[in-house]
Amino acid sequence: MTEKIILAYSGGLDTSVAIRWLKEERGYEVVALTVDVGMDRERETLQSRALAAGASRFVWRDAQETFIRHFAFPALAAGARYQCQYPLATALSRPLIARELVEVARAEGAAAVSHGCTGKGNDQVRIDVSVQALAPELKIVAPLREWEMDRESEIAYAEEHKIPVSVTRASPYSIDENLWGRSIETGVLEDPWQEPPADVYQWTKSPSGAPAEPAYVEVGFERGMPVSLDGKQAAPVTLVKRLNELAGEHGVGRIDSIEDRLVGIKSREIYEAPAAVTLLAAHEALEQMTLSKDQRRLKERIAQEYAELVYNGLWFSAHHQNLAAYIQSTQRHVTGAVRLKLHKGSATAVGRKSPYSLYDFSLATYDKGDTFDRTAAVGFINIWGLPVRVQSQAQLLHDD
Ligand code: ARG
Repeated sequence: MTEKIILAYSGGLDTSVAIRWLKEERGYEVVALTVDVGMDRERETLQSRALAAGASRFVWRDAQETFIRHFAFPALAAGARYQCQYPLATALSRPLIARELVEVARAEGAAAVSHGCTGKGNDQVRIDVSVQALAPELKIVAPLREWEMDRESEIAYAEEHKIPVSVTRASPYSIDENLWGRSIETGVLEDPWQEPPADVYQWTKSPSGAPAEPAYVEVGFERGMPVSLDGKQAAPVTLVKRLNELAGEHGVGRIDSIEDRLVGIKSREIYEAPAAVTLLAAHEALEQMTLSKDQRRLKERIAQEYAELVYNGLWFSAHHQNLAAYIQSTQRHVTGAVRLKLHKGSATAVGRKSPYSLYDFSLATYDKGDTFDRTAAVGFINIWGLPVRVQSQAQLLHDD
């Protein structure tokens, strides 16, 4: 009996060719699975393309809500940015796609799963490690790691086998997108000295071409999760989509960086993440007001650790569960609202309020109504500085 394989299908050249290749060269019955995490693709187009390429079935799963609620928003609450920059859009989608692959494989009684990741990226690691964690019995076949084709030969293979791929839509870049952001690689971007050409960006206006007048938006949070825009409740997906548009219009969310891949190479990466960048700024502003100094200090370190683990494909690990538990417990009072100013490429928090605010006007003010006991400061400094005075007199003052 022919074995079944479930292929994570994006509709692009690689995975379309992969359908035929898995069928002809490996003898599988191929089920194409598209997990919709918010990319600009039409279900009907993908379905007919997958079937024409040789898939026996096409499965479409709408995972937008799950993606935002259970992957992107927890990463937001963590404050996760890989190497201080990348909000991890692609990285966060991979464990979800892997989980869907496993679910469909089980429902279909498949023996294997497949994906279109190359052999030198992070995505292969994320998907493979996730599948292995969830379903060690499944085989994983990654055609792009096995075949010897370059882009030219893939196009030739597609033509020869009458696989429909819109070569007109073929862009010079490798693009991955979902609601949390857009990742762009390859082509001229591989020269790190080259400024990205304007056509790289699709979601964001250039800051210089953005409106001269700033826009203001108020984001409401409950326990670290965004719940409203401008005072109106908004479902997660709606909220992110609206912010992508609004902040993108003001040129917010462009990132151009050199990044360290898990497989050891440095690569030039361009990202557009208007909603993610805006929400990260808002969330951080609210934490400044609602977390103690100690909480902020440790959480900043945990955020880095969390970003690393997401980037490195360890979503389904005990380490993740541990860090997530810590992060969740820090978010209990991260409730309130932040007003942001979007202007020419930047999203700046300009106002914040919370029912759990630790900011106390009467303690902070230099004006009337001050309740801070400044006479106590002298005693405090005496004791705080004691070890410094002792050491200074015993040692440092004698240094030459
Ligand atoms: N460098 C980013 C990451 O590892 C983006 C990867 C983009 N993937 C793609 N297929 N274009 O998360």
